[in-house]
Amino acid sequence: MAIPLRDGGPAARIAVIPGDGIGKEVTPEAVKVIKAVCAPTKRGTGRNMEFVEFDWGADKYLKEKVSLPPGAVEMLRDEFDAILFGALGDPRVPSNQHAADILLGLRFKLDLYVNARPVELYHQKFTPLRDRREEDIRMMVFRENTEGLYVGVGGFFKKDTPDEIAFQEDVNSRKGVERIIRYAFEYARAKGLKRVCMSDKSNAMTFAHDLWQRVFKQVRAEYADIDSRHLYIDTLAMEMIRDPRQFDVIVTNNLFGDIISDLGAQLAGGLGLAPSGNIHPGRTSLFEPVHGSAPNIAGKGIANPLGSVLASAMMLEFLGWHPEAQSLRAAVKAAVHENFVTADLGGDKSTIQVGDWLAASVAKNLSD
Ligand code: NAD
Ligand code: IPM
Ligand code: MN
Repeated sequence: MAIPLRDGGPAARIAVIPGDGIGKEVTPEAVKVIKAVCAPTKRGTGRNMEFVEFDWGADKYLKEKVSLPPGAVEMLRDEFDAILFGALGDPRVPSNQHAADILLGLRFKLDLYVNARPVELYHQKFTPLRDRREEDIRMMVFRENTEGLYVGVGGFFKKDTPDEIAFQEDVNSRKGVERIIRYAFEYARAKGLKRVCMSDKSNAMTFAHDLWQRVFKQVRAEYADIDSRHLYIDTLAMEMIRDPRQFDVIVTNNLFGDIISDLGAQLAGGLGLAPSGNIHPGRTSLFEPVHGSAPNIAGKGIANPLGSVLASAMMLEFLGWHPEAQSLRAAVKAAVHENFVTADLGGDKSTIQVGDWLAASVAKNLSD
């Protein structure tokens, strides 16, 4: 580790991987806003944040046949404190192989077992739900991030024949299930949140999710101060819409977490606003917006950078830089309340205009 500073020290090294499509548009805006909040001011010395950019993505994959370069994982692990990631996905790579290699590769190989996807309504007008206010939609989704149906264990039999069979295995280890469920309870306790909901499909997935049931039962017994419950994933999807006030912390497996985090994102204004952290406590972790590369709007300069900026706030929090993280969130809130936003949120501003506005907003607050 080059600079062991994850305890809120004065410097950090950040690897920046913009990726594809709108990842390349929103990530520079987030970096711009982070630089503004880390700038030296008359009240303080600022934060010394070093950014190193990597061009991993579809262009490189198509040109050089390289997705995640050899040695990349070790380099990120040993030389960087965190990774700011954009998005991966390109219509020219229909298999999505480079995205699997890079994004899933980093999640697995850095063992980033916690995928934290907060759902927070920044303005009442953004929720499609009738009569819900900001305080009604505030929950944390913890998605298991290293196992499940994502591990790529499977295969084809009699491929490309009428008798073809395809297998995809759902891999769940006791250790893997236990550590994410425990993390959810620990998070709730640390944040003073009272309710944890574990969601699975154990009525149909009678082996893999039976393990989730048994581990949940064992772990919840250690957290008598927290109101814990279980919902099947189909019911959870319905309840998140019927009454989102019920949820503080949700914990679920990799695939279900992927799906309900998009559902949660839409409850709070859509993918343009949703951040996430791929975390292994105490180790190099990766922060990214929940959205993808959005080929349908890429290159137009209209992508919403707020998800990436809020992911950056999560990264600053992870580094122990709480006032800076708070400052980024306050700037996002101000942009939203002043309607200085992109088209997906009903505004008419460009990606760069929003980034500039946020950078100016945090700079002004620093100098006030
Ligand atoms: P997507 O998230 O890219 O887009 C879904 C919809 O949301 C589109 O209409 C898009 O225009 C809109 N949208 C997303 N982010 C936005 C933003 N910041 N501002 C304004 N509008 C935004 O999902 P998709 O279309 O299903 O996937 C496109 C590609 O991205 C695929 O290759 C997919 O595999 C990949 N993907 C990558 C990630 C990631 O890198 N973490 C996440 C999701 C999807
Ligand atoms: C996400 C994305 C990825 C996932 C894809 C691109 C593999 O949808 O980060 O939510 O399913 O994890
Ligand atoms: Mn997703």
